Amino acid sequence: MRKETMCVHSGSYRDPNTRGINTPIFTSSAFEYLDLEERPYPRYFNTPNQEVVVRKLCDLENAEDGVLFSSGMAAITTTILSFLKQGDHIILQDELYGGTHAFVSGQFERIGVDYTFVPTDTEKIAEAVRDNTRLIFIESPTNPLLSIIDIREAALIGKKNGITTAIDNTFASPINQNPLELGIDIVLHSGTKYLGGHSDICCGAVLANRALAGRIKAQATHFGGSLNATTCCLLERSLKTLNLRVERQTQNAGKIAEFLDQHALIKQVYYPGLSTHPGHDTALSQMKGFGAMLSFELSHDAQDAYTFMKRMKLIRPALSLGGIESSICSPATTSHQKISRKDRERIGITDSLLRLSVGIEHVDDIIYDIEQAMSAG
Ligand SMILES: Cc1ncc(COP(=O)(O)O)c(C=O)c1O
Repeated sequence: MRKETMCVHSGSYRDPNTRGINTPIFTSSAFEYLDLEERPYPRYFNTPNQEVVVRKLCDLENAEDGVLFSSGMAAITTTILSFLKQGDHIILQDELYGGTHAFVSGQFERIGVDYTFVPTDTEKIAEAVRDNTRLIFIESPTNPLLSIIDIREAALIGKKNGITTAIDNTFASPINQNPLELGIDIVLHSGTKYLGGHSDICCGAVLANRALAGRIKAQATHFGGSLNATTCCLLERSLKTLNLRVERQTQNAGKIAEFLDQHALIKQVYYPGLSTHPGHDTALSQMKGFGAMLSFELSHDAQDAYTFMKRMKLIRPALSLGGIESSICSPATTSHQKISRKDRERIGITDSLLRLSVGIEHVDDIIYDIEQAMSAG
């Protein structure tokens, strides 16, 4: 099956009672168990609604098994802690979702785990490897600067050194990038973004081979961040249009990036689809599409980021991303607020940086909104 078909059909539950087309919401948190090997329980990650979604995501990411979580951060924290104990070491990119960065920098000293943040450069990852390194955690494209890391190269460093590799694939979505096919061991998503796609659910997912997914699942049953049946059902419904949505969003983003790139009041555009983007060639070699997230910096002549966002009429200034509606935010005051100003400035997250999540609207309407906000006096 191609991705379009997987989105619609993979994992589908055939209801033997009603023969309805859709998966019913199985509300039970208690299931009979006598004489049965399979013992469903929500926090064991094996209820029917959870399994249907996991099977669809496994097909989309070419994985053997997966775990669904109640948020992207539950997926990230549970996965990271499944591979580390006191005295171990983890390597991460310094450009990462702010929540992941804050989790590591704020908690790991307390639990006795060493960490090294490295720039988005595989040579720096190789240099940071130690005898006690157990996990390499990357993100590509990164939030919010859309930097690209060579995923094959990062996977190879892991393989050569016997270190597990994991990637946050939220920005690309399984439509635009499949890291397991590039050699990475574990792929993670904040399902709150593209997988959900309608800005109305919070969830996370981890996909891997059976052994690694089993290890994460075992840890997850202790931490307990499982996803409820109703949200599973909404997620399953959303995934049926994932390919359609992301394809359209990606097309729109490419056109908007070109528009912004030529605009006199824009100092810099960050989008891997632009041939001037430093990661363009690597992105071409590992992504199926360049994604629907982009960031840009207003020039000094333009209004400040807050005033610019206040002038938007169609694009919503909002936290989160990946919805069918275009939204915009200032990472310095939202997703990356918890990172110190010094670290933000070193990474390149300035106060005038804006992150645009491109929706499925007509691209001319999105561009018109940006233009009117820029020209409003
Ligand atoms: C790239 C990335 N990873 C992970 C997360 C965390 O996901 P959640 O908010 O679902 O916990 C986010 C949220 O913004 C994100 O952008």
